[in-house]
Amino acid sequence: MSSLTLYLIKVTKTMYPLRRNRRLRTNEAIRALVRETVITPNDFLVPLFVVEGKGIKDEIPSMPNYFRYSLDLLEGEVKELWKLGLKSVLLFVKVPDNLKDNQGKEALNPNGLMQRAIKTVKNVCPDMLVMTDVALDPYSAYGHDGIIENGQIINDETAEFLAEMSVSHATAGADFVAPSDMMDGRILTIREALEDEGFINTGIMSYSAKYASAFYGPFRDALDSAPVDLVDIPKDKKTYQMDFGNRFEAIKETEMDIDEGADIVMVKPGISYLDIVRDIKEEVDVPVAVYQVSGEYAMIKAAAEKGWLNHDQVMMETTTAFKRAGADIIASYFAKDVVKLIS
Ligand code: PBG
Repeated sequence: MSSLTLYLIKVTKTMYPLRRNRRLRTNEAIRALVRETVITPNDFLVPLFVVEGKGIKDEIPSMPNYFRYSLDLLEGEVKELWKLGLKSVLLFVKVPDNLKDNQGKEALNPNGLMQRAIKTVKNVCPDMLVMTDVALDPYSAYGHDGIIENGQIINDETAEFLAEMSVSHATAGADFVAPSDMMDGRILTIREALEDEGFINTGIMSYSAKYASAFYGPFRDALDSAPVDLVDIPKDKKTYQMDFGNRFEAIKETEMDIDEGADIVMVKPGISYLDIVRDIKEEVDVPVAVYQVSGEYAMIKAAAEKGWLNHDQVMMETTTAFKRAGADIIASYFAKDVVKLIS
């Protein structure tokens, strides 16, 4: 018999609901007992911003309580993360302006900031999983994720360059490279280069469904990597990042990246794309990551500062929502705050 027909049953004089769902919500003990999704430190990947210099712990203005670290202070931060049970980091570097060019040559410097950052993390915390951002934009004089030629972001040459960059990161000790550029075919190019150089165990976490999003603003402040005004190239990333109206395209992009050799795939941004997280989780057989990006972080911080939202509650609600939607891995600037709150 359907529950609808049985839902209200007439027994002598009284009507009562046959199933009272609120019994399972009576107090925290029963709620905890039946909770379907629980966040743990194992779910998180911690983004870290690194800068040149000494003794620098610089707060990013549009990302309150999030910092860029020079390598000496990165050490302490990494140790603290490890103590909290956070075992994976995703490294980003802020490259000095005088080292930027069209090609991003500095990205291949074996003694560059990224390469030293990888070694620093591995030195202080050998078991920490180190993932690295593979993209041109922090190195590009134009703030783009590709090399520019004749008014175009040129795809295949950029992919080749990203492959060299990946090998350079693997050589420095990265466990995973994380290409965040959205050039076509770059996962295959990177995979081949890693295999050819003997890095058969280096993983690839592909930003496979990465949307052209206005939520990346604060990140571009953090790395000073926003696209600049150019006469022949639009000041956005819409010729390579995805259109936010698209859903099936995300599945196509992700399946192609898996075929090309991605070990982990990612959806980015997070909270506005939970449907995509769910679609992809149902479609693929590799771990799915989601990135709660800088603008999502900034939005919550700003509303909390104004007293309009409860910071911790919204933080827990959003991060749990990612896992409930199907994400296996959550990259979030809230990782440390969440873990402190739940431990
Ligand atoms: C660039 C890159 C971006 C982010 C990660 N890698 C920004 C962009 O595509 O312009 C955004 C992360 C965030 O906003 O937190 N390759």
